[in-house]
Amino acid sequence: MTMRVLGIETSCDETGLAIYDSQAGLIAHVTYSQTEIHAAFGGGGVPELASRDHIQKITPLLTQMLQEAGLSLQDIDGIAYTKGPGLAGALLVGAMFARTLGYALNVPTIGVHHLEGHLLAPFLEPHPPEFPFLALLVSGGHTELVRVERLGHYELIGDTLDDAAGEAFDKTAKLLGLGYPGGAALAALAEKGKPSRFHFPRPMTDRPGLDFSFSGLKTAVAQMIRREAQDEQTKADMAYAFQEAVVETLVMKCERALQQTGYQSVVIAGGVGANLALRAALKKMCDKRNAALYFPRLEFCTDNGAMIAYVGCQRLLQGEHDDLSVTVHARWALPQN
Ligand code: KG4
Ligand code: ZN
Repeated sequence: MTMRVLGIETSCDETGLAIYDSQAGLIAHVTYSQTEIHAAFGGGGVPELASRDHIQKITPLLTQMLQEAGLSLQDIDGIAYTKGPGLAGALLVGAMFARTLGYALNVPTIGVHHLEGHLLAPFLEPHPPEFPFLALLVSGGHTELVRVERLGHYELIGDTLDDAAGEAFDKTAKLLGLGYPGGAALAALAEKGKPSRFHFPRPMTDRPGLDFSFSGLKTAVAQMIRREAQDEQTKADMAYAFQEAVVETLVMKCERALQQTGYQSVVIAGGVGANLALRAALKKMCDKRNAALYFPRLEFCTDNGAMIAYVGCQRLLQGEHDDLSVTVHARWALPQN
């Protein structure tokens, strides 16, 4: 039996829609990013604005996507939406939309955990990894190491105690006078930086364990900025040193996790996965250990509807679906079995 599932992602500031076909794979996807709206307010994502924007965008985006793919609403056999974690108001927009459309079309709907979407995003690619694998999830909201045994079997083995990696990039970028979200701009500035002029700590690498902490690093940069002159080269040198500290910390913990699990595959997901220095350093570490490294394409590293459609399709095919109530979880631990 083939099944075409509409995926809806509205947990933060991307409105993502997609259609995943259990036989043909991904057949349509569209992402609208609200970044510009939030940048105008100094960044950080304004929850009320995010919700209002999702409401305005979701219907025209669906119409556009279906039209472009030559599909109609009647081609949809099931609907998956992000149930959490994320901004409650933003999640509710997607959940209500999914439930209402599901009821009208008389097809099953299912709420999906946002992180499960990220973890399984590499299965949208032509050469997906084999289970089990280690996933490093690095985004504006997450810095997590997860053992992925198979669909629905996950174990969180490392987490951040404070700021997420992307958040540290964004806050440091702000200190250096770059825009929001500043991760990519900071990475570009770091390209021009001289190695070894500054050195920042590698947080929590001197003790065992797989947890992260990045807020101290951001404070170290803030103090350095106060002490040093603010010419462009100095800023670039600081950006270099900051990025180097984050990358080295992430790679070190990843290697530790590989040692601990005995796994031979690593999947990178989340917006920080776009960072080229991180990609190169992880590749080097994986090559050294004869481990395989997988990146979903960039647009599926960041928030998107395709990963939600994929997970929803797998779960609906197993016969799972939710009842008609509309519940979302702003905070929601990754289901572990
Ligand atoms: O996964 P994502 O799009 O959104 C969520 O946080 O859910 O990740 C966005 C994060 C932001 O913090 C952004 O600054 C960071 O990813 N980012 C980068 C780069 N591109 C995006 N950080 C470092 N280097 C990059 N090239
Ligand atoms: Zn995300």
